Amino acid sequence: MTFDIKTTDPNSNARAGVIQTDHGQILTPIFMPVGTAGSVKAVHQRELKEDINAQIILGNTYHLYLRPGLDIIEKAGGLHKFNGWDKPILTDSGGYQVYSLSGTGRKIKEEGVTFKSHIDGSKHIFTPEKVMDIQRTIGADIIMAFDECTPYPCEYEYARESMEMTHRWLKRCCEHFDATEPKYGYSQTLFPIVQGSVYKDLRKKSAEAIAEFGREGNAIGGLSVGEPAEMMYEMTELVTDILPKDKPRYLMGVGTPANILESIALGIDMFDCVMPTRNARNGMLFTTQGVINIRNEKWKDDFSVLDPGLPESYVSSFYTKAYLRHLVKSDEMLGAMIASVHNLTFYLWLVSQARERILNGTFKSWKDRMVVQLMEKL
Ligand code: GUN
Repeated sequence: MTFDIKTTDPNSNARAGVIQTDHGQILTPIFMPVGTAGSVKAVHQRELKEDINAQIILGNTYHLYLRPGLDIIEKAGGLHKFNGWDKPILTDSGGYQVYSLSGTGRKIKEEGVTFKSHIDGSKHIFTPEKVMDIQRTIGADIIMAFDECTPYPCEYEYARESMEMTHRWLKRCCEHFDATEPKYGYSQTLFPIVQGSVYKDLRKKSAEAIAEFGREGNAIGGLSVGEPAEMMYEMTELVTDILPKDKPRYLMGVGTPANILESIALGIDMFDCVMPTRNARNGMLFTTQGVINIRNEKWKDDFSVLDPGLPESYVSSFYTKAYLRHLVKSDEMLGAMIASVHNLTFYLWLVSQARERILNGTFKSWKDRMVVQLMEKL
């Protein structure tokens, strides 16, 4: 993998770059649709490519390991072959899902984490080495280190000990990753994850420790877990100041359109979040004019298209608000499909606009205007 910065914004820390992988280019800043179980919920691969312009999607180690299981994915020839997505894939390590999904019975020890499957209650262990092996087998282009994502709020001592363990796990991840080979003939790269909760000294320590590993890209975790947005920006800024400038920076699990624009201004290059797809299934639409709750009575006879600001998009410029409201209110599957494609189209439009503005030097003033406009309740 290579990363080439084309332009740095003169009025902020935003950058426009190109990541090159064996499955093609990623133009940054980029948003990565979440495809937890090997599918971006309610969205076809063809729509992802042709309508949404997705350049990279996410998969989850935790989910794919439990179902369908590694034997099936390996037999298929890796996740790209299994799900028919031939562009880049990033897999999260399970460091987040193990804590958020496996519930009671989970035990965190130096060796790793034992947990019960949220599907059938069966017992499993994830160690840093095992999570590297699993992600080798899934075959993502970018794989994530095994970490602990601390909750918010989190006691200082817990955050410190957890961060130190995440660093020790990272060392094991790197050693095991470097001692093993990709399985499907293309290269894979490992991103470490900065932790440290909302404590400045811990974030600084973590960023310095992670930078020392000298990997090809770096991620920031443990944010957008309930802390105020200002705190998230403060931590992000502190960490981006320390992480190497010439490597991509990935802010995990973020966020709203405004969060994304503000974080791009702080020097973040990659984002993922379930918000556009999850909220779509609940009838919340992000548009170029602001946020819409499509279930609202006011849309019942509004025959304007979903978002006239996205004329290139078939879904956003063809279907009307009244029709989508009817579908969502009737629990029709097509409602979830249209809303999901629309929201992802909007998110990918947003980051491509940000990129254009960085390239032509107008990012900062555009961003300041957009963060207000996009969060308007329509
Ligand atoms: N997704 C969102 N936050 C995190 C995090 O802190 N760690 C991991 N592994 N995934 C995340």
